[in-house]
Amino acid sequence: MAERVTPEITVFPSLDALSHEAARCLIVAAREAVICTGRAAVALSGGQTPRRLYQLLASDEYAAAVPWDEIDWFWSDERAVPPDNEESNFHLASTAMLAHVPVSEARVHRMPADAADLDRAARSYEALIRERVPELAFDLLLLGVGDDGHTASLFPGHPALDETERLVVPVEGAASLAVRRRLTFTLPLINQARSVLVLAQGPAKRPIVEAVLRGDAAADRYPVARVRPAGHLTWLVDDKAG
Ligand code: 6PG
Repeated sequence: MAERVTPEITVFPSLDALSHEAARCLIVAAREAVICTGRAAVALSGGQTPRRLYQLLASDEYAAAVPWDEIDWFWSDERAVPPDNEESNFHLASTAMLAHVPVSEARVHRMPADAADLDRAARSYEALIRERVPELAFDLLLLGVGDDGHTASLFPGHPALDETERLVVPVEGAASLAVRRRLTFTLPLINQARSVLVLAQGPAKRPIVEAVLRGDAAADRYPVARVRPAGHLTWLVDDKAG
């Protein structure tokens, strides 16, 4: 069992303030990686929380500080919908950020969850990560938290949580989800990251944030509590979640 780590949790008065700090964290992590290795690998998350972060990174306030030419952009999970679908995590980052900045298409690695054969798509994305991400260690890996404590598309009780070999797998989430079929990073890949940034907003996330803060074994029922990276783990939460 990986050792239990207590993350650094910072509470912000608003999603906007949280998103400004997240932008600073991402820029620092990317610039440090570029200084050390000439490149950076960043994995983006989906849902609604990171929208403001993406807008800020593309804004006049931050865009000039982002080493766009040296970052390879990946996604930590994706829904089984076309890239122009409102439910797509790629669509979120593209419309809020990538379409507005000088990033080369060659550095944007969309997760092909709209493929007919999801298992084959998972294996091809894993092969791409093995080829393009040194030591399989993302310099900055962004995650969100679902109301049930899921993160990426690792849902409570799902066998994907116990995957120890594969880095990317297909999953089928609960019937309540708008899009059930997905691709997701597994915990071995997530926990290989140099820096993981978890963003959480809203009162529904409070029990999960409190459980993770307590760091007790009961927290492990929440997949996000099992995010224990080799590197830094930082939670940025708003004052409704924290
Ligand atoms: C997804 C996301 C997922 C998300 C959480 C939080 O594809 O659903 O990657 O893990 O981060 O569900 O979503 P909100 O930011 O909308 O609360």
